[in-house]
Amino acid sequence: MSHSTDAWVLHRGEGPNAGRTELVREQFEFSDISNEECLVRPLYGCWEGNMSHALERKPVDIAAQRGEDRVVFGNAGVVEIIECGANVTTVKKGDIAILFCNGLWDQYGYPERIFAYDAPGTIGVCAKTTKMHQKQLIPVPKNTKYGLERWAAFSLRYPTAWSNWRLAIGTLRLQLNETELPTPTVWGWGGGVSLAELHLARLQGCNATQISSRDERLKVARDLGITAHDRTAIRALNYDEKRYRSDAEYKEKYLEAERTFLGWVNDETDGQGVNIFIDYIGTPVLRATLKALARQSVIATAGWKDGMYLKFLRALECINRHQHINTHYARYTEGVQAVAFAEANEWLPHADDYVYSFDEIPKCGHDYDANKFVFFPVFKVND
Ligand SMILES: NC(=O)c1ccc[n+]([C@@H]2O[C@H](COP(=O)([O-])OP(=O)(O)OC[C@H]3O[C@@H](n4cnc5c(N)ncnc54)[C@H](OP(=O)(O)O)[C@@H]3O)[C@@H](O)[C@H]2O)c1
Repeated sequence: MSHSTDAWVLHRGEGPNAGRTELVREQFEFSDISNEECLVRPLYGCWEGNMSHALERKPVDIAAQRGEDRVVFGNAGVVEIIECGANVTTVKKGDIAILFCNGLWDQYGYPERIFAYDAPGTIGVCAKTTKMHQKQLIPVPKNTKYGLERWAAFSLRYPTAWSNWRLAIGTLRLQLNETELPTPTVWGWGGGVSLAELHLARLQGCNATQISSRDERLKVARDLGITAHDRTAIRALNYDEKRYRSDAEYKEKYLEAERTFLGWVNDETDGQGVNIFIDYIGTPVLRATLKALARQSVIATAGWKDGMYLKFLRALECINRHQHINTHYARYTEGVQAVAFAEANEWLPHADDYVYSFDEIPKCGHDYDANKFVFFPVFKVND
């Protein structure tokens, strides 16, 4: 039996330079579930950076890359299980589950492709009905203390943070143990994933600091016990090697911002530097971030919001024993651990106050692109 659903659909572009596109609301057909899959009814979704990348068709046209003409994206959310294939053991009919967006995984379970992004044949939560593999579903704890909007906001960014943090803190601890460094300092650039990771660091006894340019975001961080710095004071900290070499005025402003930033670091770390720096931004902040690091420290990321080509001096990174951690989402066992930890420790976000309707999904994306959101822009798909 095949299925047909109401969905927001992204169409493949014409040619290699097709440019930005918009979602189209139409019927979307898909084949019946296999023994390992479940038919699901999305309840909430959360807008994510990758959805905007897909609409921009940057760095790739995901429909063309998947070899498909039409794609339904949406890889963060909460769903209700309607029907299970014969071999499904992770969830049961009637369960509520988070979408775990590992789309295609290697022999150890680590993601190679992301569900409803670059994994072919996957259908995201911007549809009234869809299907998911049993390893793409983690049950929300029975009688959870938290709202489903919060779990929707959790489902992509928090497992990403969990997996990245495990490696970051584990690597730091291989170099400096708890006696040598009882309270690591952890700083972060970026948005929701950084907030998740800094909150986790805080819950595990580290001193955490987030840098952000918006009052609402600074407040959210402070309410979680995270120190927050206003990035508007260092807007010029936006490194561009070409301009740095050719534009004296730009260089002067950049250096002033870098000095201010390193002054914050110096004051808050007693001149020791940051032990773990979480950087989801990339090129424009790398130079300053490396200067902010302590010896035997870690720079950790799973994102490249503002530039993915990085240049650094390998000799200095080696001599200072800076460890560069790179991860991509998480494997299923890490997702299960993250959900259990979240329920026990309230390690999950509050969705932004305004919840978009299904009709408003394109508006949700435009607001995200215009930076009109706090951290977690959630939309409702079904009641
Ligand atoms: N590989 C994975 O598994 C994975 C998973 C999740 C996300 N990601 C990627 O990771 C990146 C971050 O995602 P997110 O969801 O945490 O981000 P987000 O919530 O969308 O927020 C990004 C924030 O970064 C800050 N920012 C932007 N440009 C900056 C710059 N030049 N310097 C300093 N701060 C800057 C801005 O905050 P302020 O304006 O407040 O400063 C911005 O709102 C995205 O590219 C996303 O696609 C990857």
